[in-house]
Amino acid sequence: MEIERGDIEVIREVFAYINRFRGKAFVIKIDNDIIDDEYFPVLLKDLSILHQSGIRIIIVPGARNKIDEILSQYNIKSSFHNGVRITNSKMISFVKMAAFDVSNKVMTALSGNNVNALVGNWVKAKSLGVIDGIDYINSGAVEKIQKEPLLKVMENSFIPIFPCIGWNANGKPYNISSDDLAISISELIGAEKLFFISSNPVLRSENYNFPADVGVSNEGRISRMNLDTVDKFLDLNKDKLGELDSIRRAKQAVKRGVHRVHLLNGKTKGSLLEEIFSNLGVGTMIHGNEFEKIRKMEDTDISGVLRIMEPFVKDGTLVIRNKQTLLKQIDSFVIYETDSVIHGCASLVEYPEGIGEIAAVAVDQNYIKLGIGSKLIKFLIDRASRKKINKLFLLTTKTSDWFETIGFKKGKLSDIPVNKQESYNFDRNSKIYIYNLKT
Ligand SMILES: CC(C)(COP(=O)(O)OP(=O)(O)OC[C@H]1O[C@@H](n2cnc3c(N)ncnc32)[C@H](O)[C@@H]1OP(=O)(O)O)[C@@H](O)C(=O)NCCC(=O)NCCS
Repeated sequence: MEIERGDIEVIREVFAYINRFRGKAFVIKIDNDIIDDEYFPVLLKDLSILHQSGIRIIIVPGARNKIDEILSQYNIKSSFHNGVRITNSKMISFVKMAAFDVSNKVMTALSGNNVNALVGNWVKAKSLGVIDGIDYINSGAVEKIQKEPLLKVMENSFIPIFPCIGWNANGKPYNISSDDLAISISELIGAEKLFFISSNPVLRSENYNFPADVGVSNEGRISRMNLDTVDKFLDLNKDKLGELDSIRRAKQAVKRGVHRVHLLNGKTKGSLLEEIFSNLGVGTMIHGNEFEKIRKMEDTDISGVLRIMEPFVKDGTLVIRNKQTLLKQIDSFVIYETDSVIHGCASLVEYPEGIGEIAAVAVDQNYIKLGIGSKLIKFLIDRASRKKINKLFLLTTKTSDWFETIGFKKGKLSDIPVNKQESYNFDRNSKIYIYNLKT
């Protein structure tokens, strides 16, 4: 196998993610139609790899289609109320049959990848009771999940599989929603990620009204939203709430404490790994409000920052900086991180008399045009105004157009501090740009 330079970056990124997620739990709800899909073996192979790399995997297989199939074989008709199947005493044994059948399929596929799995009865359920005069009979809800046995199973390197069945204290079975089950498990064990893998198409920006802070990928996919944005998004698309049911479910899960919920189309080969190992992903992620942040650079960030600057130093866009220079300037630097991975940096150097310099602005080449550069500059402008800086300047050879779009105006040598004028490199012939903060 030949490894190219670009691949090394990818390998580094993958290792960074694995280190970050080792020992953390991912709950995977897989819809029934994906279990019957041609790419299901690939999905289970990828899940096995994640498990073997130390991530704790829990699988909740949906059984809706299988239940429909078995009930129709026995000529039993289902009725639904508020989207919930009314499971009666005649149906429940068929529902159990379907739930364990899909769980067995998952277990069989894991066995084929040398992974141990257990289908368990860790869920205590209760009846949904009578709602709006409708008796839900054997349709139930999660009452309690046995946490300790579940953690033990995972400590012993088994993947737990949860059929959509729970039992009451007398052993009476209930049909429970696998979506709710997946959310309850995630909440209980503080899962790092919850995946809903279905055949739903990816959300495309052209089909919806969306607020400005929704993350949209280059190819027009709605890639991420935080809790505040989800509310605005649902509000702007009230006429399409039916098709946005998965978004509402994801929002509910994040509100209940799940860090990140990923909606993923399982009919694409390798989508799970792509979603996990790249911040741009291939699905839609709903997350708490702290996912992206700009913060002060720490010394442990320096190698990441040098990595981002490297190509721009090579092509002459940025001046050379090494570890020592960055350590000296550490207080002036901020970094932009997504999910604890650095994707951009910039610095604000203070001069006397209310002058500041913006320098070393760089965004990871794989993440350009996502607004990261502009956010960094806006952050530094805000920081400068809080520090009572009246005028910002910067020197640039190739990026003047971009700075102009942000509001910088062309300046001259006399606009910059005297000591900076003295060190001005006439060979480099950088253009001077100014941003006035005084009102
Ligand atoms: C310039 C840079 C910081 C922009 O970061 P970014 O996160 O891609 O910027 P944003 O997403 O906020 O803005 C992207 C927009 O700016 C435009 N843009 C990017 N670089 C540009 C440039 N050199 N000149 C003009 N426009 C530019 C993009 O085409 C894009 O426009 P669009 O939204 O209409 O498609 C980044 O490309 C970079 O790191 N460049 C190399 C280092 C550098 O030039 N640093 C500045 C020297 S101090």
